[in-house]
Amino acid sequence: MTHTDIVQLEERFQIRTYRKKPIAVVRGEGCWIWDAADKRYLDLYGGHCVTLLGHNHPGVTAALKAQLDQLTFYSNAVYSPVRARAAEALASLAPVGMRNVFFCSTGTEANETALKLARKTTGRTEMLAMEGGFHGRTIGSLSVTHGKYREPYKDVMGPTTFVPFGDARPALSALRKGAYAGLIIEPIQSMAGMAESTAGYFRLLREACNDAGTALIFDEIQTGVGRTGTFSISERYGVLPDLITMAKSLGNGVPVGAVLVSDAIAGTVRYGDQGTTFGGGMLAMAAVEATLAAIRDDDIMEKARRIEVTIRHRLGPKIKEIRGGGCLLGLDLGFPVAPVVSALLQDGIIVAGSNHPNVIRVMPPAITPLDEIENFTDILESCMREAPGVA
Ligand SMILES: Cc1ncc(COP(=O)(O)O)c(C=O)c1O
Repeated sequence: MTHTDIVQLEERFQIRTYRKKPIAVVRGEGCWIWDAADKRYLDLYGGHCVTLLGHNHPGVTAALKAQLDQLTFYSNAVYSPVRARAAEALASLAPVGMRNVFFCSTGTEANETALKLARKTTGRTEMLAMEGGFHGRTIGSLSVTHGKYREPYKDVMGPTTFVPFGDARPALSALRKGAYAGLIIEPIQSMAGMAESTAGYFRLLREACNDAGTALIFDEIQTGVGRTGTFSISERYGVLPDLITMAKSLGNGVPVGAVLVSDAIAGTVRYGDQGTTFGGGMLAMAAVEATLAAIRDDDIMEKARRIEVTIRHRLGPKIKEIRGGGCLLGLDLGFPVAPVVSALLQDGIIVAGSNHPNVIRVMPPAITPLDEIENFTDILESCMREAPGVA
């Protein structure tokens, strides 16, 4: 199929929910993807922060093929060896005290599950959430998502109070009311342009949640699975949440989400409290098992850290600010980035924008060679020089 055929069919037969990049991708390998005209792109976007191991990772592909020959799917109505191994692998990488797993299929479903567990264990209904936070598009996750995404559905939202991200005082004073089931927070707010805060801030939230009997929920849909250099970013901040949600990189492209649940909350869970048909299915579990094996055995977290160091070293002195960590970075150029993102695409490099007009998001596979990262920084600098409105 030609580029034009593909675009025409998609536009004709799908509802127009997505503003797409003007390329049609056909195949991928490692940090590269190829379009319908066989042009090669360096993929520093990973299909929205998903392919941490790179496209068509040989270990994940082999595991999926082997699993397809065995059994494609069976639900949680039965036990399964691949699910047993995937759960053990995930639990063994989870922070101590949080080695209890619930599998689902998407990030938003993981957050829905965490919100339900917080409500169930506390017997409360209200949530505390952060301005700028994004937690998904289903109604529960949307009710704790800030801003434009929730506006049209305000009539069905659960009760949520929003406080500014990164400023402990309003959060602590809200928590003192003792009314909240959960406080949900993206430790790095990706859509908001990689807003980040300090270990001290997260520790204050942890202590205040303890005092208030509120469950602390880390939405690690983007930060989790080793992307920022530790398996959970909670390890970097020295803070143990009550619930951690993960998805995106967990199956390296196969849809899967998970909730890591504290021992205390796991102890309160009863049959029927949560369920899903597809969560924990065999193909997804084969992907999780192989992805986690690679993360453990191929120094993926160390590689993610080295990519961050390279980008900070090359671009730190040249742009306004770099935020985030590992393979989840926001490059704040200090001026609107849309023309730079388009120019990079022309030059064969895929990056993402965000809700912050001045921020380019870089979420590369951790296996991206450092010389390709250096090449990207050179090309970015030349695109910045040519961007309209830049002196
Ligand atoms: C921080 C965060 N939470 C939740 C979600 C929702 O995940 P999904 O699109 O898999 O439902 C996303 C998706 O981008 C996200 O970035």
